[in-house]
Amino acid sequence: MRELRLRMMRALELFSGLGGWRLALGGRGEVAAAYDVNEAANATYTLNHGASPKASELATIPASELASHRADTWLLSPPCQPFCRMGNHQGLDDRRSRAFHRLMDLFPELPPEGLVLENVSGFLGSDAHALLVERLRAHGLHRLDLVACPSRFGLPNQRPRVFVVASRRPLEARPLPDLPLRRIAEFLDDVEDESLYLSEPILARHRPGLDLVTAEDRRSTCFIGGYGQRYVASGSFLRTTRGVRRFSTAEVARLLGLPAGFRFPAHVPLEARYKLLGNGLSIPVAAWALSHLDG
Ligand SMILES: C[S@@+](CC[C@H](N)C(=O)[O-])C[C@H]1O[C@@H](n2cnc3c(N)ncnc32)[C@H](O)[C@@H]1O
Repeated sequence: MRELRLRMMRALELFSGLGGWRLALGGRGEVAAAYDVNEAANATYTLNHGASPKASELATIPASELASHRADTWLLSPPCQPFCRMGNHQGLDDRRSRAFHRLMDLFPELPPEGLVLENVSGFLGSDAHALLVERLRAHGLHRLDLVACPSRFGLPNQRPRVFVVASRRPLEARPLPDLPLRRIAEFLDDVEDESLYLSEPILARHRPGLDLVTAEDRRSTCFIGGYGQRYVASGSFLRTTRGVRRFSTAEVARLLGLPAGFRFPAHVPLEARYKLLGNGLSIPVAAWALSHLDG
């Protein structure tokens, strides 16, 4: 019989975006409060989850405000640009790390019982990682640094990410699943959006650098926020009998494991939708990372 869970988590979802952590949390607990400064992210979150994130700037959040939610778990995906292969690698010196820094300043006052942080692989070994490790140690939390990719979960998409999992209880790394990869065809829209096809001049200019896949393939590269505005190293493009096209936002959402009913508010422009997805979590991978807090 499956081990009984001893407690339901009461989570703060920090840098909440589309609400990936809320989806990954599922029945493990509830989100006490979500925080994000981006209007498009918050409108999308509200539409899909029926709860609205607070639009407060986390870099200046008062301790009393975070404490008021009486949360025991922090689920967080701080901006990854300071740690990205293509970013400036400034880590904590990057202004986009100010909010993470603020949370680390508040940590001694409000240490959670559990925490899961998601980021790109460059986070491991960074000064931000070192600061987090120091805070966890100082407050007696056990820690695991995990790396996982949706391709191990049967999803034909490369998106390796780091998860730092911490808990007051001892932790043990769980084996990664190794599910057979599904075909891209399973993730495609029934009716194609013709406007996603690349024009001849664009194709001629970028074709050598494009990562092309077909519906029969079982792989695609990581879709980043600039997908469609950048062509090279931004995500795969689909080759069909008619030409080469972008994946639609619904197709990218399926490849991330977002639920079938996931949608965007009408006022959120196409490029903003790709950006939100490109910032998002692979839901089965995040749920696996969270499962380390079961106990
Ligand atoms: C990597 S994304 C997180 C994505 C999220 N986990 C999801 O499931 O979609 C980072 C998010 O942090 C938000 N953000 C960045 N800096 C912030 C700050 N200083 N205060 C609050 N939110 C911030 C951004 O608007 C963005 O939505």
